[in-house]
Amino acid sequence: MNLKSYVREVPDFPKKGVSYKDITPLLLDPEAMDLAVKLFMQNLPHTNIDKVVGIESRGFFFATLLAEKLKAGFIPVRKPGKLPHNTHREDYELEYGTDTLEIHEDAIKKGEMVLLHDDVLATGGTAAATCKLIEKCGGEIVQCNFLVELAFLNGVDKLKNYQVNSLISYS
Ligand code: PRP
Ligand code: MG
Repeated sequence: MNLKSYVREVPDFPKKGVSYKDITPLLLDPEAMDLAVKLFMQNLPHTNIDKVVGIESRGFFFATLLAEKLKAGFIPVRKPGKLPHNTHREDYELEYGTDTLEIHEDAIKKGEMVLLHDDVLATGGTAAATCKLIEKCGGEIVQCNFLVELAFLNGVDKLKNYQVNSLISYS
């Protein structure tokens, strides 16, 4: 089974010239989902993992599955104004303007081992901001993992201090 064949490429979405990588066909297929989780698990470093961070919103799909497999806690990193308790905030660059992500301050204890997951690594801004949030909480990042990497955007350059793993790559 080839996971890439479950990703639908949608031309000119959300704007002209962009080839959108639609993972919903993969989510529709329980065997493909199973395989993705198995491969994520196989590619993790052999270390204890206390928490899995998923990035709103598409990062949530697999992050909760991985947390359950690892018997780790799940932490949502969310867009601004969504988390009800005290948060750390981090701004990051978008193609036009900036955006913000938040994490609950008490989600991670100092020294806990944390896995970061998101669906797509593109420019790396979202993941890099999330790494900063995890470190503000005192967490140690074990790996940043992604279902899809748009390698031609060189997002890994923003994650130089971390181990990065992606299951499907577009160059
Ligand atoms: C998309 C994708 C990643 C991020 C990657 O999320 O799900 O989170 O962009 O881009 P980057 O590497 O250039 O930062 P988006 O912000 O579109 O929101 P969504 O997950 O809620 O759809
Ligand atoms: Mg996202």
